[in-house]
Amino acid sequence: MRPRRFTASAPLKGRIRVPGDKSISHRSIMLGALAVGETRVTGLLEGEDVLSTAAAMRAMGATITRGDDGMWHVHGVGVGGLLQPQSALDMGNSGTSTRLLMGLVASHPITATFIGDASLSKRPMGRVIDPLAMMGADFTAAPGGRLPLTLRGISPAVPIEYRLPVASAQVKSAILLAGLNTPGITTVIEPVPTRDHSERMLRGFGADLTVEIAADGARIIRLKGEAELKPQNIVVPGDPSSAAFFVVAALLIEGSDLIVENVGLNPTRAALFDVLRLMGGSIEEQNLREVGGEPVADLRVRHSLLTGIAVDPAVVPSMVDEFPILFVAAALAKGRTVTTGLEELRVKESDRISAMRAALELAGATVTETEDGLIIDGTGGDPLPGTADGTAVVTHLDHRIAMAMAIAGTVSRNGVEVDDTRPIATSFPIFEKLLQRASAM
Ligand code: S3P
Repeated sequence: MRPRRFTASAPLKGRIRVPGDKSISHRSIMLGALAVGETRVTGLLEGEDVLSTAAAMRAMGATITRGDDGMWHVHGVGVGGLLQPQSALDMGNSGTSTRLLMGLVASHPITATFIGDASLSKRPMGRVIDPLAMMGADFTAAPGGRLPLTLRGISPAVPIEYRLPVASAQVKSAILLAGLNTPGITTVIEPVPTRDHSERMLRGFGADLTVEIAADGARIIRLKGEAELKPQNIVVPGDPSSAAFFVVAALLIEGSDLIVENVGLNPTRAALFDVLRLMGGSIEEQNLREVGGEPVADLRVRHSLLTGIAVDPAVVPSMVDEFPILFVAAALAKGRTVTTGLEELRVKESDRISAMRAALELAGATVTETEDGLIIDGTGGDPLPGTADGTAVVTHLDHRIAMAMAIAGTVSRNGVEVDDTRPIATSFPIFEKLLQRASAM
């Protein structure tokens, strides 16, 4: 455990740059490892989750190195060329690594065992086991379809048409990645759109992938198997899910005027910024451009008094990782914020509904937990009381709970004690350093 007390912060000023997008970083390594030749990746997130993916791809035959200039070089083995790993693949805290790699292994004639930390070992894998078993892969999992789990892949696998029962980009991506080494057409039907990095990047690497919008609005994604992927030069944009913590901090801390550079604004990811604007937040997009096939801008954020709202549940998939920090914004807003449709938050790195309810309550916020969300009555801009001396909020090995409550501490009277800051390194290793820097400008 590495506890730390986060206390009232000076205004955030100047310009900062957050690390590369986690979703895109994972996929850069995986797809690079399946292309023949050298893929070069600039701006890769060097967080523990992505490093778990890199270690697993090395264990299955890819050569992955980091140059002194920070560029990553991935020499792939070709679709169908993954090798049998010699020991269990340690996924650490990373659900994305686990589920996407399960997809890759499923259609190769190899066996892999997946293990992870206490948080990951509680998360449901049945959502990926079901479709991958339909494709012919065989599984032995801990009770409830959890890690540790052994997967025996099969080649050739059977192409399927699968309608997603949960809105999950990880499940969608696992099936598409399995489809790469499967003869015929693999089809995923997505009733509610989720982040589309896999589709964009598979196409970028040369796969034959089409997306059709059905009459009911569902996305029908078709991938032609036995694909040949061509190596790419990838520039990873900044992670909007990491930028979110600084955007909210700058809105909440009086006197702040901060520019967060190079933020990915893919519409399937960026709904938090729209919600914050609806709440009255001053967030200006500057220098809108395209980086690595994704829309990117610098965000200028100025302190604003926020007003509570009812968040439209339709936007949940486009900000699914941003609710912990939205809850902090709501705790300082004027009036009531109501969130619904957040069932999926209960199966993230922690149960984020109950973890944030408990943490915000301990910090003195007024919060009610419902089955599928939180209702928060904000302070109207006054600081939160903070946690009493000797008590700490519990992060449950969840990086986003730790970072959200760190920001809550910066707008509190007493400070907020976070029980363990180590999980922050899974997605945002320089978080604390950047917070210190932006408040010292
Ligand atoms: C991710 C998808 C989301 C998200 C996770 C990253 C991805 O998970 O929460 O942080 O990269 O595909 P779900 O697919 O479980 O919603």
